[in-house]
Amino acid sequence: MRDLMDRVAVVTGAATGMGRSIALSLAEEGVDIVISDIDEDIAQTTAEEVRALGRRSIAVTTDVAQLASVKALADRSFLEFGKVDILVNNAGVNLRPFRAVWDVSEEDFRWVVGVNLMGVFNGVSAFVPRMREQPGEKHIVNTSSMGTLVTVPGNSAYAASKTAVTGFSEVIREELEPDNFGVTVLFPGYVKTRVGTSERLRPENERSEGRNITPFSELAAKRKGPDYQQSESIAGAVELKDGADMIKGIEPDLVGPMVVKAIRRNAPYCMTHPTPAEALRRHAEALIASYVVD
Ligand SMILES: NC(=O)c1ccc[n+]([C@@H]2O[C@H](COP(=O)([O-])OP(=O)(O)OC[C@H]3O[C@@H](n4cnc5c(N)ncnc54)[C@H](O)[C@@H]3O)[C@@H](O)[C@H]2O)c1
Repeated sequence: MRDLMDRVAVVTGAATGMGRSIALSLAEEGVDIVISDIDEDIAQTTAEEVRALGRRSIAVTTDVAQLASVKALADRSFLEFGKVDILVNNAGVNLRPFRAVWDVSEEDFRWVVGVNLMGVFNGVSAFVPRMREQPGEKHIVNTSSMGTLVTVPGNSAYAASKTAVTGFSEVIREELEPDNFGVTVLFPGYVKTRVGTSERLRPENERSEGRNITPFSELAAKRKGPDYQQSESIAGAVELKDGADMIKGIEPDLVGPMVVKAIRRNAPYCMTHPTPAEALRRHAEALIASYVVD
């Protein structure tokens, strides 16, 4: 989508962090923005920031984990703006503290998958039928994570949800291409946002408090192999050998302009940090070599 002037974008999780940066960067290119977030007050502030850039903007309180809430967001967006050209499914959460799989409860898993994966499906399901009927180019951005490209112990629920976002997005990119859609998967490395405090947004009935969780340092200490080092900054232990760049924290404001470029180029992927090429190569080679018949 080369020409962004007078387009309409819906960005979920747009009140703060990368979503806010994407919303403001699109507004700077002439796009009107629907700020969708579960955090109503901050969403209003971000919508005001967009209006200060001279574009139309409304804030819509949404829980992306609930299809009915996302359908209401779609209805409101089409009612107010008459069209939606760009959909950014960005809202996401993560568990804190990081925990080994035996400490991940059903509530933990459902919450993370509900927001990170179902949230993306709900966005596509609620918006795409009407977007398909619109003439001209359309674009969808779905937020995955570089944390799915290297091993981040203690992060299994998150990795499950975000890896699924990538697979889902790759399939719909092919399916929607004939209808003039582009699809981009956003792979953030470590970006200095409030994602580490997302437990604050967790619904009461999906909490699993009062459990003993193995301190992550214990889990990390048991790990073997020269590729792994301690890193308190992200999860305690990350495959640092070629994933080191992705744990260098960057400011969220840098991400919006990257996403704008990816939309303009219809790039299938958008990395916020240097790609962990060795880890990807090892992964691909292991898969290619894995068919053993004798
Ligand atoms: N920050 C990182 O290092 C990092 C790395 C990889 C991927 N990500 C992903 O990037 C995306 C943006 O996160 P961020 O880092 O900017 O964090 P953030 O917490 O600053 O922003 C996330 C936004 O999503 C909103 N949100 C949470 N649950 C919601 C729900 N159920 N419905 C609607 N909105 C909801 C929050 O209120 C918040 O405004 C997320 O999908 C996150 O998982 C972040």
